[in-house]
Amino acid sequence: MNNIWSENIQGVMTLYLSRKLRFDDVFFGQYKKQFGIDENADIKILEVGCGPGALAEALRRQYPNAEISAIDRDSNFISFARENVTGVDFYEGDAEKLPFEDCSFDVTISNTVLEHIESKAFWGEQLRVLKPGGVCLCLSARRGLHCTAPCLETTKAEKEFWESIPQSEDELKKYGVGRYSMTEAEIPASMEKNGFSDVTAGYAIIDLTPDAPKYPPKMAEAMIEAMRQSDLEAIRHARSCGAEEAVSAVNAKYNERLRLYREGVKQWDTSVSVTMILRGVKK
Ligand SMILES: C[S@@+](CC[C@H](N)C(=O)[O-])C[C@H]1O[C@@H](n2cnc3c(N)ncnc32)[C@H](O)[C@@H]1O
Repeated sequence: MNNIWSENIQGVMTLYLSRKLRFDDVFFGQYKKQFGIDENADIKILEVGCGPGALAEALRRQYPNAEISAIDRDSNFISFARENVTGVDFYEGDAEKLPFEDCSFDVTISNTVLEHIESKAFWGEQLRVLKPGGVCLCLSARRGLHCTAPCLETTKAEKEFWESIPQSEDELKKYGVGRYSMTEAEIPASMEKNGFSDVTAGYAIIDLTPDAPKYPPKMAEAMIEAMRQSDLEAIRHARSCGAEEAVSAVNAKYNERLRLYREGVKQWDTSVSVTMILRGVKK
């Protein structure tokens, strides 16, 4: 039983809702172009470090004939994924010691996992479980743009809540989050050095701007709700007293954001994420 990530770093809803948006059908064409995988192929895909399963769920829709497996070592993520995502086999386990036979998958894929696992083990295990000619896809989040709506600025109650929590050692450092981060030039080089051929790199740009007219209300409101759940989970994870006021303040400001959206009062707050997409082949 391992709940380190979901209880200390990013909660189930923070990851699931944000990734559901990033891997929405509206955006998936950008990834597909770089993946270069026949969408009707009868293949076996393994997602490594799948979290609560939003990418696996999108792969299920986009590659309907594929057999999809997904693995993560966090028990909460795997329980959530098993309950909420159908048509995917979810496993609890370690990416550094994949519980699969050599040469058993056509494609391996991961999203924002590379930076947390030692490179030799990360690439080496995927190389081992891929069939000759198999494709490794690696998605890595790069610096994006973020602009907050005035009505979503941190409230006094939130500030007081966060200031009341004793500063302990840096949580991210403690759990080794991002310990193996690499630059845009280092990732493809690392993939080649660790045995992959024909390595290519490209980018997907995901624009989450609720007020943009191209997005229907359902999607725009999902963007606002994803932010709300992320703020609420952060407060819950702090496990500190005085959380009720902060929770109420967060709910009040997101209710206001929704009201403004519904009344057509534009805020133009945005979150644009840039995802690097690496593709390499096992010769
Ligand atoms: C930033 S999260 C990304 C999760 C998911 N790919 C997504 O985009 O929602 C990193 C994930 O890697 C998982 N992880 C980290 N080290 C791992 C390891 N050695 N084996 C399996 N999973 C691991 C964490 O539990 C977490 O779910």
